[in-house]
Amino acid sequence: MAADPLLQGTRRTVGWWRRKSLRFRLTAVASAVLAFALFVSAYVMIGVLGQALLTTIDDVIYQRARDTVSLADAGRLPDEMTTPDGTLLQVIDGAGRITHATTGTDRLVPLLGARERAAAIARGRARFLDGEPYGIPHVLRVRVLSADRGQTVIAARPFSEVETSLSTAGHVLIIGTPLLLVLLAGASWVIIGRTLRPIAALRRGAGEITDTARSRRLPVPEARDEVHSLATTLNDMLARLEEADARQRSLVSDAAHELRSPLASIRLQLEVALGHPEGQEWRETAEGVLEDTMRLARLAEDLLALARLDERGGPGRREPVELDQLVPQTAERYGEAVTVRIPGPASGPGEGQKNPEGGAVVVTGDALDLGRVLVNLVDNALRHTTAQVMVELRTEGADAVLTVTDDGPGIPEPDRERVFDRFTRLDSARSRDEGGAGLGLAIVRETVNAHGGAVHLEDASPGLRAVVRLPLS
Ligand SMILES: Nc1ncnc2c1ncn2[C@@H]1O[C@H](COP(=O)(O)OP(=O)(O)OP(=O)(O)O)[C@@H](O)[C@H]1O
Ligand SMILES: [Mg+2]
Repeated sequence: MAADPLLQGTRRTVGWWRRKSLRFRLTAVASAVLAFALFVSAYVMIGVLGQALLTTIDDVIYQRARDTVSLADAGRLPDEMTTPDGTLLQVIDGAGRITHATTGTDRLVPLLGARERAAAIARGRARFLDGEPYGIPHVLRVRVLSADRGQTVIAARPFSEVETSLSTAGHVLIIGTPLLLVLLAGASWVIIGRTLRPIAALRRGAGEITDTARSRRLPVPEARDEVHSLATTLNDMLARLEEADARQRSLVSDAAHELRSPLASIRLQLEVALGHPEGQEWRETAEGVLEDTMRLARLAEDLLALARLDERGGPGRREPVELDQLVPQTAERYGEAVTVRIPGPASGPGEGQKNPEGGAVVVTGDALDLGRVLVNLVDNALRHTTAQVMVELRTEGADAVLTVTDDGPGIPEPDRERVFDRFTRLDSARSRDEGGAGLGLAIVRETVNAHGGAVHLEDASPGLRAVVRLPLS
């Protein structure tokens, strides 16, 4: 049962970290990275500085040793040797005796024994030496060179100069680094806070948008940055939502409006019949009520069809639909009033090869939905035509083109798009027996769009032609 306490501890830390504000986390991460960078650069700086100072000392003692070797070789060593920079010098002869030394330097005991001197000469580099045994309270940097006649020259300088410089630099860094870190962390905190301010403003703005205050927009910051584009995108989304909401509201109110008149009519007929039962033609009443009920049923069906189209955003099914079969079958029920014209399979050999199935016009989609498209268009045409309605189907490139033409009054150009809107009727004054709620063309357009096609109305002079284009499968 007892979970690993280490694991639990880690989880708790992760949880704590996630609960912290973005500002805190960003500042903490920035400061941690900064602290690491400062620490590393301080470390490197001390190292480089130390190395540089050491090289300087080594150069100086080498130079002094060289000068002394030259003098020794020439036999011109002064009795009292001095150096302007306080470098210690000892010249030792072949027998191991100190022949010359700078003032203040031991004249009896060489800084290095014979064997060490030989080793140091062989190494060809400076080395460290504890000065304590020779009465020098420092660590020394020592260089040994050989001269003529078995002589050796030892040059030395206290290493403490370097130590002092390094410790001074170290002190500066120990105090300066945390100070700089605190300063930079503070700056990060302020800058990140400033950067996040527009987001806080967005959040406040979003909080203020209520259901009642519809056309509220989020505050857009002036700077053209990411937050700016976020705010504009969100505002666009709000506008779209508002539009959809308005559409939905008007749809509901239009639908309620459309429902009211058949319901009122049913109610009136029943009230009259029940109020004066004597001599009442019940059959007539029932017929009237039935007609209104049918209108209600159609309205409900149309609304449902639109709701489904809205919901799906595509055709209900995706199966091959043979329009050349569907169109005549659908038109059949209208009898003589509708003429169907479908160019038969091409008789030319070239065309025949191209289309071996013989004029089949197949699109992908839902046969029921596409049937409803034709029914809605033919219903409209029949309502306005004076003679016949012509339905034609042909292919044009990669499209199937279905047209429904009547010779009625047509629709004036400016209204030809508007009639596709929901609940739009141009002859709104007409009696309720003719036509429905004005949903027919809306269903047509949305179905055709869902099938990847397009529909428009054009002048057939006289009359109107509805043209539906659907991509062939
Ligand atoms: N062939 C046409 N000729 C003249 N006007 C037309 C024709 N088709 C449609 N319209 C006009 O466009 C309007 C909208 O047509 P739509 O099919 O959307 O609605 P509706 O036929 O009135 O009602 P519904 O189709 O819901 O029964 C119609 O009210 C009518 O005024
Ligand atoms: Mg209609």
